[in-house]
Amino acid sequence: MHYRNLGKTGPRVSVIGVGAWQFGGEWGLDFSQAQVDAILDAAAECGINFMDTAECYGDHLSERLIGDYLSRRDRARWIVATKFGHRFRGFLEREDDFSVAGVGAQLDASLRALRVEAIDLYQFHSGSDEFFQNGELWNFLAGQKRAGKIRHLGVSILQKGSELQAREAAASGAGALQVLYNRLDRRPEQLYFPHARRDQLGVLARVPLASGLLSGKYRSGANFAPNDMRAAFNAEKLKRDLAEVERIQETEAPAAVPMAQWALAWCLKNPLVSAVIPGCKDPAQVKTNAGAADLLAAE
Ligand SMILES: NC(=O)c1ccc[n+]([C@@H]2O[C@H](COP(=O)([O-])OP(=O)(O)OC[C@H]3O[C@@H](n4cnc5c(N)ncnc54)[C@H](OP(=O)(O)O)[C@@H]3O)[C@@H](O)[C@H]2O)c1
Repeated sequence: MHYRNLGKTGPRVSVIGVGAWQFGGEWGLDFSQAQVDAILDAAAECGINFMDTAECYGDHLSERLIGDYLSRRDRARWIVATKFGHRFRGFLEREDDFSVAGVGAQLDASLRALRVEAIDLYQFHSGSDEFFQNGELWNFLAGQKRAGKIRHLGVSILQKGSELQAREAAASGAGALQVLYNRLDRRPEQLYFPHARRDQLGVLARVPLASGLLSGKYRSGANFAPNDMRAAFNAEKLKRDLAEVERIQETEAPAAVPMAQWALAWCLKNPLVSAVIPGCKDPAQVKTNAGAADLLAAE
């Protein structure tokens, strides 16, 4: 495993992390505690020390599964990131709540679910610029940091977000950006990375496998189960993306390594990217993804 600093103020994270949206049950599977344990144990064995969850991956469900795991393992070896800004209302349904009172309640619920004394990285979760530009909220969060409930703050920017949040992240007290970045979507290089470079912010690349498409295992006409959030993808865009993946697979990705590994290493070639956080369904996926670190030059 390789490790990089999450910006100038953040912790040292493994370049491969674990994304935990799938534990909330919107990816075609309901995960048992034993399945989650096996995934996270495999990650720890590979040297992974970073995981990313959120308040609304289920109603704090992903956090609860992780909290149960952490309560029986060495909590101190893990850097746990979660997020704020929503109440889970059902499958793919959330209600925004970025009010100070609402975020305060979410923070306490996340601490309880994760069974931790402090959240290592607490991220503004895909909110509008209007929600973001709220001095009262950032003052409240700074106070929670001083009180020891939060170690670092971050901003997870909407896929169709504006650059304002990246530009103002440091001034708001955040030390890391989470952006949708992968071989199919390079817009962050123009929109967000210049701000990360200027302010020495850590960068987390989310959806690094383009929701699994960059594993190369799906072909045009692929169907997803109704309880898999990918069933809601726009059919035309999915077709275009899969055709592009096929082209990349033939012209760029070496046949000798699993395409998922290559796609993760592709994100990490950019030294601004501190870590990628692929979602993983089982220990085998974790191990393949961790292997992407071996494709990087010695650091
Ligand atoms: N707004 C936000 O802040 C936000 C939004 C989205 C995601 N995120 C974070 O980013 C994380 C990652 O994004 P994501 O899970 O949406 O997308 P992703 O990481 O691009 O794709 C994950 C999916 O790819 C497949 N996969 C993973 N490893 C594989 C391997 N080695 N070989 C083949 N297939 C593999 C799995 O699904 P199948 O095997 O079923 O194909 C897995 O569920 C999330 O878990 C979450 O923590 C944050």
